[in-house]
Formats: sequence, C-alpha cells, structure tokens
Amino acid sequence: MRNKILFVVTIVAVFFLGLLASSIVNRKSEAKYKYVPKVEISANEPRNEVWGENFPLEYQSSLQTLDTSFASYQGGSAMRDVLEEDPNLVILFAGYGFSKDYNQGRGHAYSIEDIHNTLRTGGPKGEGDGPMPATCWTCKSPDVPRLMNENGIAEFYSGKWADKGAEVVNPIGCADCHDPKSMKLRITRPALVEAFESMGEDINQATHNEMRSLVCAQCHVEYYFDKNIPGKEGVPYLKFPWQNGMAVENMETYYDDMAFADWIHPISKTPMIKAQHPGYETFLTGVHADRGVSCADCHMPYKSEGGQKFTDHHIQSPLNNVSNACQVCHREETKNLIANVYERQRKATENRLKLEGLIVKAHIEAGKCWELGATEEQMQPILQDIRHAQWRWDYSAAAHGASFHSPVETARVIGGGLVLAQEARVKLARVLSDLGHNKPVEMPDISTKEKAQEYIGLDMEKLEKEKEEFKNNLLPKWLEEAKERESKLKTTKVALNDAE
Ligand code: HEC
Ligand code: HEC
Ligand code: HEC
Ligand code: HEC
Repeated sequence: MRNKILFVVTIVAVFFLGLLASSIVNRKSEAKYKYVPKVEISANEPRNEVWGENFPLEYQSSLQTLDTSFASYQGGSAMRDVLEEDPNLVILFAGYGFSKDYNQGRGHAYSIEDIHNTLRTGGPKGEGDGPMPATCWTCKSPDVPRLMNENGIAEFYSGKWADKGAEVVNPIGCADCHDPKSMKLRITRPALVEAFESMGEDINQATHNEMRSLVCAQCHVEYYFDKNIPGKEGVPYLKFPWQNGMAVENMETYYDDMAFADWIHPISKTPMIKAQHPGYETFLTGVHADRGVSCADCHMPYKSEGGQKFTDHHIQSPLNNVSNACQVCHREETKNLIANVYERQRKATENRLKLEGLIVKAHIEAGKCWELGATEEQMQPILQDIRHAQWRWDYSAAAHGASFHSPVETARVIGGGLVLAQEARVKLARVLSDLGHNKPVEMPDISTKEKAQEYIGLDMEKLEKEKEEFKNNLLPKWLEEAKERESKLKTTKVALNDAE
C-alpha cells in the first residue's frame, strides 16, 4: 500500500517537473524571438502599413479599430448619432458646428474618413474655402508631425482645412506615438509640450509610465485656437488652457480673463466656451490615476499570440476586453466590473440630463428677455451664469469616459453646473417680471433632432447637398493626389545580413 502511494506521488512529481521544464523551454523560445527589421522607417514616415512590415503584431491589432460591432451603455465603437439620441444638444450648440452633426467617436482607423464625412467640416470647393481652419487636422493623422517637421508648426496651423486635404490622409498611427528609430514613446504634438511649459514643467522629464498616458493627452484634452500669438497674429494656433491648472474652474478663469468665446449663442447671445474633450484632465482626478494606472493599462493591455506577448493596439472600450483590461488587477467577475462602470455612468447621466434641461430653458428664456427689450446691463450676469453652467455641463459630457475615470469629480462639476443654471433662471424670472412677463416662457417642441434643427433655423438639406458635392468632386481629387505623391516615396528594404 505504502509503495503504491509512493509510486503515485513520484509519478505526479515527475509530471509537474516535466511541465516546469517545458514551460522553461517555452520561455526560452519566447526570449529567443529577436527583432528583425524588414524595412527602414524614415524619420517622417506617416504610412502605418510601412511600420507594419516591421511590427506586424502591433499593426494587425491596430487595424481592429476598424471593427464597429461593439456598443456599451454609453460607449463602444458603433456610430452613434448623439443629436438623434438627445435633441437638447441641438439647442445647446445652436450657432455652432455641433448642432449640425455630432457623432460619437469611433476607432482611430476612422479618424480621416469621419472628418471628411462630418457636416461640421462643410463642403469646401477648393483651397481657401469652407468653415474650418487647417488646425482641425491636428489630432487626426501622422501626416501632421510630418508636415510640421517639413514646413513648420505655425505654417501647419495656417489656412483652411481644405488646403491640406491632399496632404493629411493616413489615419492616426505609429508615427503619432513612436520614434521611428528607437520605437520609444514620443510626443509629436507641440501643443502638449507648450502646455507643460506654460505650467513651468518640462515634458521631457516625464517617466515612462507617465508617457503611457501622455501619448493620449496629445489629443484627448481640452483645447482652443489662439489667434493672438505674438508674431503669428491671425493664425488659429492650437493651445491647451492649462496655465492655471486643469480643474474646471482653473480653465474657466483662464478663458474669462482673456474674454475668450468659441462662439456667440444666437438665442441667448451668450459668449460660449465649447469644452472639447478634457479626457486626460478629468482622468488625472480619479483613483486609477492616483494609483499610477495609465491609459494604456486599460485601453492597450498586453495580449499574447503564438507565444508572443505584445501591446494590444486595438484601442477601444475596455468593456469589450475586460479579462485583459481589468482582471489583471481586479478579481471580480466580468459582469460585476461592467455593472460598476454602468452604475457610475448612469448616476452621472441622471444629473447631467437635469442640468442640460435647465440650460436649454435658460437659453430660451434669455432669448425672450432680449425680445422684450432687456438691456445688456440686465443680461450680463445671467449670460455669465449660462456660460459657466454650460461649460460645466460640456466639461463632464465631452470628457469621454469621465464618469468612470473620475466619478466623484464628474459629479462635483455637474453639481456646480446645476447651481449656476438655477441661479441664471432665478435672475431670468426677475428680469422677465420687470419686463412685464409674469408667466412661464413657452418652450418649443424639440422632441426630435429634426424639429430642434428646424427651430434653430438650420437648412439641413443645403448642408447635406454641399457635403455630397464635396464628396463627389473635391474629395476624390485629394485622394488621387495623395496616392500619386505617396507612390513616389521609397521604402528601403533592410538587407538580411544587416539585420543579423
Ligand atoms: C482603469 C481603466 C481605465 C483607464 C486607466 C482609462 N480608461 Fe478610458 N475608459 C475606461 C472605461 C471602463 C470606459 C467606458 C467604456 C464604455 O463606456 O464602453 C472608458 C472610456 C473611455 C473613452 C470613451 C470610449 C468609448 O468607447 O466611448 C475614451 C476616449 C477614453 N476612455 C480614453 C482614455 C484616456 C485618454 C485615458 C488616460 C488619460 C483613459 N481612458 C484611462 C477605462 C479606463
Ligand atoms: C493623434 C490624436 C490621438 C491620439 C494620440 C490618441 N487619440 Fe484616441 N481618438 C482620437 C480621435 C480623433 C478619435 C475619434 C475617431 C473617430 O471617431 O473617427 C479617437 C477615439 C478614441 C477612442 C474611441 C474608440 C472606440 O472605438 O470607442 C478611444 C477609446 C481612444 N481614442 C483612446 C485613446 C487612447 C487610450 C490613446 C492613447 C494610448 C489615444 N486614444 C490616443 C485621437 C487621438
Ligand atoms: C496612441 C499611441 C500609439 C499608437 C498610435 C501606436 N502605439 Fe505602439 N505603443 C503605444 C504604447 C502606449 C505602447 C506601450 C509602450 C510601453 O509601455 O513601453 C506601445 C508599444 C509598442 C511596441 C513595443 C512592443 C509592444 O508590443 O509592447 C511596438 C513595437 C509598437 N508599439 C508598434 C506600433 C506600431 C507598428 C504602430 C502603428 C501601427 C503603433 N505602435 C501605434 C502607443 C501607441
Ligand atoms: C493596473 C491595475 C488596474 C487596472 C488595469 C484596473 N484597475 Fe480598477 N482599480 C485599481 C486600483 C489600484 C484601484 C483603487 C482601489 C484600491 O487601491 O484598492 C482601482 C479601483 C477601481 C474601482 C473603484 C474606484 C471607484 O471609482 O470608486 C473600480 C470600479 C474599478 N477599479 C474598476 C475597474 C475596471 C472596470 C477596470 C477595467 C476597465 C479596471 N478597474 C482596471 C487598479 C486597476
């Protein structure tokens, strides 16, 4: 009997030793994998497929951002028409591009296609035409650092969006985040470097872990166009308003001090600030950032394929990848983790929608005051409240992911907005009553996107027709010209013995 047990124990022990040995051999063959470049990547190479020759795993995974099949409660890669889902936004953005067309962001591989298609870029007929400046290309493509290196930064920001249509054609990719020689992470957008300088910091001192978030902060941030840069007057120069800090109040003071407005709201006449997408700024106030977790930890986790471990470049909603994105650190089940995220998002949305409703009413009530003959002096404090309330609403709504990245800060910002919007409406009721209007102001029917757009006087048919013409005429010319230009770029194959 004893011998039998000993025999079984020995067999089991031998089996596990065998497993251990085979795993060591596997590790060894993992370690033996060596980087053998196939092509030389030139300093300004914008084409992802060329980088992909040397780094097929990272390249192939980045192509998966083309997948549009995942939709979560609030995010995902599927195209979502935000104005259709919530027509209130048409009123909030009246007089501004986002009232025409506002789709939720998709994967990086669509960055060029989507900016071609959005009604916000209009239907330019050629150089010098259209509503948007060239600066709008800045966060869309690795052709941007190429052009900045070739022609200069201010030159890149100069002129119209349409002027650079044949130059900016490759979707967000390798050259945006990597140095072609060392493959180290790098910052290619001067606005981020300059923002650090404005805070008295040097971005070159950033740690490797910080870089895993800072590469994203090149684009997922609040920004504005400054037309008063000394020596570059008139050029819409891209800037991040971080000089006083990144909190909602800090940036607001920055904008107020320079009396900055992105646009004047046509109903209430409020000088508005559009919050772009302060994703990085809000992320920094959350517990994950506090514990040193980086954007890449959740949005670009490690992945294994054929025994090789690499960084998953399928940048997407982590909810489509909970095992790699969360369960490396958290032991909870997938459905619990998703429920945690949704709970934070639902709770933030509940109050954000209340805030939104109040601001819509405030714009329309302010419009009524003007109609009844209100003076600038009467309206000024009200418009200031509306400006600050909508800035808070937008700061929390447009910072994609903020209600999960930093739920407490997001709730605080929305709470502050609610107070300001109510303040505005108390003052509005007083002015309305002074002007002899002692009943509620009638609200228009804005129950659908179409009705809301009609109410603010948008001629959607015209906008859509202009866009179609652009897509049929100018766009194919851009693409043709770009193809022609790129076909002349040489790629040098690396000779086999060079690589050994
Ligand atoms: C702890 C994990 C984690 C970290 C760290 C993190 N995120 Fe997220 N992020 C999420 C989750 C979860 C969502 C919600 C996804 C959803 O709703 O489908 C999200 C949403 C987003 C979205 C919207 C995505 C969509 O599909 O709508 C963007 C953009 C984003 N994050 C960017 C960033 C950036 C930039 C950073 C760093 C500054 C960052 N995230 C850091 C987990 C993280
Ligand atoms: C060069 C600018 C740029 C950089 C750098 C950048 N992004 Fe983006 N990101 C964008 C743009 C633009 C979109 C929207 C693309 C679209 O809708 O066509 C986007 C979309 C996204 C989405 C939504 C995709 C989806 O399918 O849900 C996520 C998530 C995201 N980015 C995360 C990140 C993270 C994390 C980093 C850093 C590792 C990063 N981004 C770096 C510009 C950038
Ligand atoms: C939005 C920024 C971003 C873009 C775009 C991007 N990468 Fe990366 N890449 C990263 C980050 C972050 C890491 C992780 C780096 C680290 O922690 O050292 C990484 C790591 C890598 C590595 C190191 C090996 C590994 O897998 O961890 C290679 C090689 C690489 N990327 C290639 C590419 C290629 C090729 C492309 C274009 C198809 C690309 N990257 C596009 C951010 C980016
Ligand atoms: C690199 C490690 C890491 C990753 C990856 C990570 N977390 Fe966390 N998470 C933490 C740490 C650390 C905390 C802080 C709590 C603690 O210290 O115990 C935390 C806290 C949380 C909290 C509570 C904080 C709050 O908002 O109240 C939630 C919820 C959470 N994580 C969900 C997620 C989800 C969902 C993902 C994937 C999308 C994720 N985490 C990815 C490390 C991580």
